[in-house]
Amino acid sequence: MCGIVGYVGSKQAYPILMKGLYRLEYRGYDSAGIALVDGDLKLYKTKGKVSDLEHFVHDKDVTGTIGIAHTRWATHGEPNNINAHPHYSQTHNLALIHNGIIENYGPIKEELQKRGYKFISDTDTEVIIHLIEDIKVNEKVTLDEAVRIALNQIIGAYAIVVISKEDPDMLVAARKGSPLVVGIGKNEFFIASDASPIVEYTQDVVYLNDEEIVTVRRGHKIKIKTITNKDKTPYIQKLELNLSALEKGGFEHFMLKEIFEQSRSIQDSMRGRLNAKEGTVKLGGILDYEQKMANAKRIIIVACGTSWHAGLVGEYLFEDLARIPVEVEYASEFRYRNPVINEDDIVIAISQSGETADTLAAIEMAKMKGATIIGICNVVGSSIPRATHAGSYTHAGPEIGVASTKAFTAQVTILTLMALRIAQMKGTIEKSRFHRLLNELEAIPEKVKETLAVDKQVKELARIFTYTRNFLYLGRGYNFPVALEGALKLKEISYIHAEGYPAAEMKHGPIALIDREMPVVVIATNKGTYDKVLSNIQEVKARKGKIIAIVTKGDKDVKKLADYIIEVPETEEMLVPLLATIPLQLLSYHIAVMRDCNVDQPRNLAKSVTVE
Ligand code: AGP
Ligand code: GLU
Repeated sequence: MCGIVGYVGSKQAYPILMKGLYRLEYRGYDSAGIALVDGDLKLYKTKGKVSDLEHFVHDKDVTGTIGIAHTRWATHGEPNNINAHPHYSQTHNLALIHNGIIENYGPIKEELQKRGYKFISDTDTEVIIHLIEDIKVNEKVTLDEAVRIALNQIIGAYAIVVISKEDPDMLVAARKGSPLVVGIGKNEFFIASDASPIVEYTQDVVYLNDEEIVTVRRGHKIKIKTITNKDKTPYIQKLELNLSALEKGGFEHFMLKEIFEQSRSIQDSMRGRLNAKEGTVKLGGILDYEQKMANAKRIIIVACGTSWHAGLVGEYLFEDLARIPVEVEYASEFRYRNPVINEDDIVIAISQSGETADTLAAIEMAKMKGATIIGICNVVGSSIPRATHAGSYTHAGPEIGVASTKAFTAQVTILTLMALRIAQMKGTIEKSRFHRLLNELEAIPEKVKETLAVDKQVKELARIFTYTRNFLYLGRGYNFPVALEGALKLKEISYIHAEGYPAAEMKHGPIALIDREMPVVVIATNKGTYDKVLSNIQEVKARKGKIIAIVTKGDKDVKKLADYIIEVPETEEMLVPLLATIPLQLLSYHIAVMRDCNVDQPRNLAKSVTVE
């Protein structure tokens, strides 16, 4: 996972690389490093965050107009100074940064060791740079050719950038499975894991495809070839990324900013797609495939983490509205299960980052078995949208906080639009209900704003429960995934153990946990199963558990039983996840801040999980 950035041009590379690392830090933050060429190849790296690296180099020579930098999320070898990237080649003439995993590093390492290569780190990465140097020296080829030959021997996922002391005008980079973008400026080039380190310098970018190698040289045009040695014409695109989206804009954390952005981000997800007045839903990206979706005998949703929770909401939506059976699968399980997939199955893959390795692998497998793949992704140009047949971007804007918030509500918005559209095509929804839902969906951004007003109240609640050790989250129907998501959010950023359960399932086990120390968050906005949820609350009360209830404005009965109440505006039951999720996001956020946790970069996590 990790972020990589490179620069070659006429400016000093160090400030550009450092700023780039800060932007990419959400991808990994256990160690960081930088290499610059200015006569010598200087390499500095340290365990810790990008700020630790900055501190470490403050009295060092960081001059140079070419360089590479890395922020790591360790897969092989603990996070320490030695395992941090960049890694030197044996002669120290070359250095390399890498994002991904080299699966066959073992045999390559053994072979190189036999030939006298000394390995310093425990990483899988180190084999790549020794192999490149070995080929370059023994076969007397140029650096880009050595990289190409080396990559033909490598199995696994990578985005790499190589820098050379002997050729201080050139960077060579390549990708397979991990993202890489090249920015083309005036006599300068930028290379990065995503466009965020590039956006303030140039709008012209090339997204590298798998198994492509790019060479950028001062004063020359960008050159791309495949690892099978075919020349490629670079496809230069204009970046559509707003710099302010990458900054905190006055909020203390990205996560809080992103929670508060949800009115706007949901609106952006619907923009140009939903027209309640005319009674239309149009998702341009799936137009050619919507008939196939409408004909599908089954939909399989694959995703991980928060995106999987959005998928669960999708299950309820598609079954309820479009009457198509849905299975929601963890991508990681699905891919190894030899699942039964038919050609008339639709697989919907949901991912914020568009880079999640398990989801990508699930897509490839389903594609091989003949299914049609529809993507729902946030990051434009990322790997998943490129691997799918069609899809819709969520347009939530960059999500930097590692804990997903606005991406979730945007995913649910898209799933709602898709389910409505397919239901309309199939005629499985009455006209009046269709119009009512469209109108209600259009009103959601305003209701999100209203919901956000609970922030102060939730903060008070967070004060009461700051040091609680366990939490239970309960919900039924559309609110079951909300409960799961609420629990995940709390775990991720506050490190409090939390479990989400379907409310009625509690009596089959978790009820044993309930005592006066156990807060139970109940999402009790349901209309259909209101009385049942009331009984579940009674069961908790009878065992002296503390009830925090999310209720619809004006609720009377739950109010009488609950210890704490948070109100959300009234809406259609199937749209409640878009509102009820918000107080739970805020609760996790405030508890985490009060526990002094690193909210935007929680321990052990990274924004996109590009490894299995
Ligand atoms: C969300 O808060 C998590 N960090 C994580 O569960 C995430 O949702 C999961 O890794 C999937 O990521 P994706 O949406 O980018 O595929
Ligand atoms: N596998 C490499 C390592 O552990 C790179 C990890 C990453 O992509 O962050 O150093």
